[in-house]
Amino acid sequence: MSTETLLTPSAPDTATWKPRLVAFVCNWCTYTGADLAGTSRTEYPANVRIVRLPCSGRIDPHFIIRAFEQGADGVLVSGCHPGDCHYTAGNYHARRKFMVLHALAEFLGIEPERLQFSWVSAAEGRKWADVVSDVVAGLLRVGPVQPTWGGAGELPVRSLSEPPRPVPEPLDVVGELRATAQRWLSDCRVDVFVGYGQGSLPGRLRPAFITSPDEVDQLVWNEHAVNNLATYLTRGLVKRHGRVGLLVKSCDARAVVGLLQERQIEREQVTLLGVPCIGVEVDGALAPKCHTCDSAWPALVDEVLSAEVPLTPVDGEGLAAEIAWVEKMSPAQRRAWWQAQFDRCLRCYACRAVCPLCYCSQCIADQSRPQWVSKSSDGRGNLAWNLVRAFHLAGRCVGCGECTRVCPSNIRLDLLNAKLAQVVRDEFGYVAGGDPDLPPPLTTYLLEDHEEFIR
Ligand code: FES
Repeated sequence: MSTETLLTPSAPDTATWKPRLVAFVCNWCTYTGADLAGTSRTEYPANVRIVRLPCSGRIDPHFIIRAFEQGADGVLVSGCHPGDCHYTAGNYHARRKFMVLHALAEFLGIEPERLQFSWVSAAEGRKWADVVSDVVAGLLRVGPVQPTWGGAGELPVRSLSEPPRPVPEPLDVVGELRATAQRWLSDCRVDVFVGYGQGSLPGRLRPAFITSPDEVDQLVWNEHAVNNLATYLTRGLVKRHGRVGLLVKSCDARAVVGLLQERQIEREQVTLLGVPCIGVEVDGALAPKCHTCDSAWPALVDEVLSAEVPLTPVDGEGLAAEIAWVEKMSPAQRRAWWQAQFDRCLRCYACRAVCPLCYCSQCIADQSRPQWVSKSSDGRGNLAWNLVRAFHLAGRCVGCGECTRVCPSNIRLDLLNAKLAQVVRDEFGYVAGGDPDLPPPLTTYLLEDHEEFIR
């Protein structure tokens, strides 16, 4: 598989190299400010290529990823000052997106010099010239992007998972589970009940779609009940049945909250049967997500199975420790580490198929006109796909870990998602899957959102 990077199609000649800076700017302020710099004959480096958009709110992260993919050494994003947006709040919304993107770029080891943000008004021709000069100087300092994310030296070695921990004995709830499903189906409260059935391989469960009270004996519950069943709520297979009964663990219930927030399902269409969960198994050990789960009981239910639940203290640092490990690496090492992860991507889209929050009828990765994401499983296409997906899930991922569990190449998608969840929690005080009445964090804003990273 190719090791060609997203950022540079071919190695530049460093002797003659001049940084290529792409600037995405809002038409009303920054573009006019740049025009003023020109008409005032203010000198600044000629390395910048300006792409004019109606508002900074229209500057989609895909544009930025695409610019890097096409060989930009750096990207500058600029719009009207807060309070001056000609569409009232476009730049407030953009500010939140940029904050997440800024953190994602840093986590991937992309030098901060390569992705810069500014507010430049129509009257600030001088500021525009200064910002461009500063950004170009930064690019000259960090140099061209290496064609193979090189220069990392020896990568630190660490097993990126906590020591295996045993899975607790499952709670005995099967009898009550079957009786409840039978009652719901007999009373016509639901048209289909979605739970777990025995899989064809030993120790594996599969989703079971029960439509008759006579079939409830197929339902089982044990430590292998790892799938997030909320995924099926938006799939035609289940939707065509009408009213759905769904067995939910606490992580499944959080995904249901996400679907309700995004108006993908109606509350009255779904009846939730909560099952207390004290941990499920992945690869013979307690699933990583269960180490830090502090609630055996799902938060959103209509009925709940009764069981004596042992105290389950939060056990370990989980993904936070692994994120800290990645962040300790130098930027070059982080880039190399992520490159090695993404190079393994087969573009099988198993991560998309299993994700409860991936429900678009046409995914951006499947579009040909325009083609935002290369479909080839090479360095460029893989990195673009994984970044676009991570960004789409920012503030939405409920941390069920299904993408990582099903990935045939063991790519640590959970680390990317968990990092962005951390950013969203720290910056916006928001945890996905909590309150169905709260708007998702990237669809709203606060006047006092941070913007220290913006010039
Ligand atoms: Fe300039 Fe919205 S019009 S940021």
